[in-house]
Amino acid sequence: MSAAIRAGNGKVTVPDVLHRKLPTPENPDPQKVTCLTAYDYPTARLLDDAGVDILLVGDSLGMVVLGYENTLPVTLEEILHHTRAVRRGARRALVVADLPYGTYHGSAEEAVRNAIRCVKEAGAEAVKVEGGERRLGLIHQLVEAEIPVMGHIGLTPQSLHQLGGYKVQGKTSDAAERLLRDARAVEAAGAFAIVLEAIPRELAARVTHELSIPTIGIGAGPDCDGQVLVLHDMLGLSFTPPAKFVRRYADLGEVVRAAVTEFCRDVRSGSFPSDAESYHAAGVESGSSRLRR
Ligand code: KIV
Repeated sequence: MSAAIRAGNGKVTVPDVLHRKLPTPENPDPQKVTCLTAYDYPTARLLDDAGVDILLVGDSLGMVVLGYENTLPVTLEEILHHTRAVRRGARRALVVADLPYGTYHGSAEEAVRNAIRCVKEAGAEAVKVEGGERRLGLIHQLVEAEIPVMGHIGLTPQSLHQLGGYKVQGKTSDAAERLLRDARAVEAAGAFAIVLEAIPRELAARVTHELSIPTIGIGAGPDCDGQVLVLHDMLGLSFTPPAKFVRRYADLGEVVRAAVTEFCRDVRSGSFPSDAESYHAAGVESGSSRLRR
């Protein structure tokens, strides 16, 4: 049986994720939450088959699959497009869509409208928004509109220019206190989980201890209630040097390069396709000529 959090029918739901935090007599030692980014149908299917609990259609797609310099240019249409593909591939995992920069920074009405599009048009089961105290009202309004919200504090890549770069957050005691206030605000607003990105392990442990919603860490140490990574980073499919917190579970970039080099060599030498890989005229071939895909 897979390690995914199971509701009665096997589907991972928002309450299942929330209950990971709370040991019950039936489940005294809840399993940690696993979350990976997914941007398309095949990876959604593979990750779902492997038992990942949450598929996050992160705005990191801008950098890792669309080649943008950062996440800021990502549009709502792009998130909708990729979320639809992930939705089609997800059988059990919870699908969370990232609200991209600019889609929730104006009026709350517009933000709710944009989040509803993620649910109605793309099949997202929750949305993720970056920011702490300043998002309190917005998260509350999204939850009031029946949209589950995952928070995201610490290094929030949409604040790139305000932060002055991708830097570890919450290192001083003042910054740590600010982050704790952010975490409490996100929980008070009604979020069902919160991503903690690039903060000291000690602070992440403190936040995790204080909150009653699960914390999902990325570069936040091992004491969170769950972990998330950008899929392309952990599989060796990104082109920038990985951050310290990324564990490379495979080097698929190298696998792809080797396979494609071999294909080019075989085509150029004439060894691909072989006769067995070719169709023949009637009378020459006895087998079916139906194409298989
Ligand atoms: O966009 C993304 O991939 C994210 C994760 C890093 C949490 O927000």
